[in-house]
Amino acid sequence: MEVDLNTGPFEEVETEALAVLSFEGAPDAAVDAATAGWLKELYDSGEFSGKARETALLYRPAGLRAKRLLVVGGGKAEEFTPAEMRKASAIAARTLQSKKVPRIAFAPGEGHAAADFASAAVEGAILGVFEPDRYKTESKKDEKPVEAFSLVGGAELRGAVEQARIVAEAQNFTRELANEPANRLAPADLANRARETAAAYGLECEVLDQDRMRQLGMGALLGVAQGSAQPPALIVLGYTPEQSFTADHLALVGKGVTFDTGGISIKPADGMEKMKYDMCGGAAVLGAMRAIAQLKPAVRVTALIPAVENMPGAKAQRPGDIVTTLAGKTVEVLNTDAEGRLILIDAITYAIQLGCTHLLDAATLTGSVVVALGHHRVGAFSNNDEFLAKVLASAGRQGEKMWRMPMDAEYKEQLKSPFADLANIGTRWGGSIVAAWFLREFVADKPWVHLDIAGTAYLDDAKPWMAKGPTGVTVRTFVDLATNWA
Ligand code: BES
Ligand code: MN
Ligand code: ZN
Repeated sequence: MEVDLNTGPFEEVETEALAVLSFEGAPDAAVDAATAGWLKELYDSGEFSGKARETALLYRPAGLRAKRLLVVGGGKAEEFTPAEMRKASAIAARTLQSKKVPRIAFAPGEGHAAADFASAAVEGAILGVFEPDRYKTESKKDEKPVEAFSLVGGAELRGAVEQARIVAEAQNFTRELANEPANRLAPADLANRARETAAAYGLECEVLDQDRMRQLGMGALLGVAQGSAQPPALIVLGYTPEQSFTADHLALVGKGVTFDTGGISIKPADGMEKMKYDMCGGAAVLGAMRAIAQLKPAVRVTALIPAVENMPGAKAQRPGDIVTTLAGKTVEVLNTDAEGRLILIDAITYAIQLGCTHLLDAATLTGSVVVALGHHRVGAFSNNDEFLAKVLASAGRQGEKMWRMPMDAEYKEQLKSPFADLANIGTRWGGSIVAAWFLREFVADKPWVHLDIAGTAYLDDAKPWMAKGPTGVTVRTFVDLATNWA
C-alpha cells in the first residue's frame, strides 16, 4: 500500500473515500459545516452517535471533493488516545477495503494533529488492511485491496508518517511470517528469510547450524531439535549504529518454534494447528530488526532467534533426559512440551557471550499466562525495575498492553530436581512465573525483561480493526525501545 501525506484542507482532498472522526455527544463541527449539516442530521436520526467502532458512509457528499465520506465514531473525545486512533483508522481502512474502495484518505481533524496521533493513524491503516489470505486462490479473484492511503495533516508530520509506515510494514512482515504453516516455514526457511532481510536492509547475519551448536555445547537447544527431521538454526542478526553514545548492547531474543507438537509429551489434537504460531516471538524480533535497520537508532542491537521444530520423532528426547546447557548447568527435561524455555536459555547464554548488556525476549511460552491475563495483555517479567520501566514506557506509547507479573523467590523452588541442576517444569500453579524463573536462572544478573506473548500473539477471531491470525505484537515496542534508547 502506498502511503503519503496530503496537506489538505480535507474539503479539497480528491479521493475515492475520505474518512473522518466524530465523537460521542456532538457531531464534528468542521465536518458538519463542510457537509452543510449532514452530520448533525445523522446524529439527530439516532443512526450514529459517535461511539467507538461505529461507522456511517455517505456517497457523493455535497461540499467535499471526495467521492465518499466515511464517518468513524471516536467514542468519548476526552478518552481518545493514539491507541484509539490506531483502531479507528484501522476500522476505516478495513471497512473501505470490504467495500472495494482502492484509494482512501483519512483526516484526523484539528484536535488530533500531533505526531503521535498521525503515526497511529498511518499504522492503523496499514495494519488494518492486512489479510492472512496468501494461500487463497478462489475468493481472492474478486477482492480489491486498498492500494493507497493518504493522511490529511500538516507538512510537519512527514517524518512521523514515514516512520509509522516503516514500523507498520515491519509488523505486517512479522504477521505474514508468523502465519506461514509449518510445511512452508521450517527453521531453515526462517533462517533464509532472516538472510534476505539482512541483505535487503543492511544487517549482519550469521546462522549457526547443528554442527556449530554441538561444538559450542548448546545441549538444551539441540535436545529439543533432535526429534525433528528439520535441522535447527540459531539465527543471529546484528545492527551496529554509525555513531553510538553508549556502551549498551541490546539483545532481542525471540522463540522460533516453527511447530510445537509438544514432542513426546504430545499435545491434544484439538487446536494443535495453532502451534504454527509458536514462532511469533522470533518473527517479531525479525520484523523489529527490519525496521531498526531502516530507522538507524543510536544503540547496538543483536537479534537471536533459536529456530526448531518440536516433534516426537524416533530420535526425540524423552521425559527424564538430562541435557547440558551452553551455560554449563544441567537440566532434567520432565516435559518435552516445555521446549520454549530450553531453546531460549541457550540463545540467552549466547547473547551474553556476544557481549550483550541488556536482554529482552518475546516468546509464546506458556498457556498459564493466557489463564492469568487472557488475550488482552502481554505478561512482563523482569529482574530489573529500571529496564522494565523503559520497556513498559515503550509499550505504553505503542499501545501494546503489558502487565508486570511477580517473581517472588518462592516460585523458583518448583524447579528443583534431584538429578540435575534444574527441572524444566514445576507444578500447574503459577506456570508462567515458574517458566520466567527458569529463564532468569540463565541471565547472569544482566538487566532482563521477558515478554510472554502466548495470549496476545494471535487472534482466534477477527476484530473490527484486525484480521484473524497473528497480531505482530511486540514489534512496535521493540522498535520504540531501540529508537528511544538514550
Ligand atoms: N507453545 C506452548 C505455549 C502456548 C500455549 C502458546 C498456548 C500459545 C498458546 C509452550 O511450548 C508449551 O507447550 N507450554 C506448556 C508448558 C508446560 C508443559 C509446563 C504449557 O503452557 O502448557
Ligand atoms: Mn510446548
Ligand atoms: Zn511452544
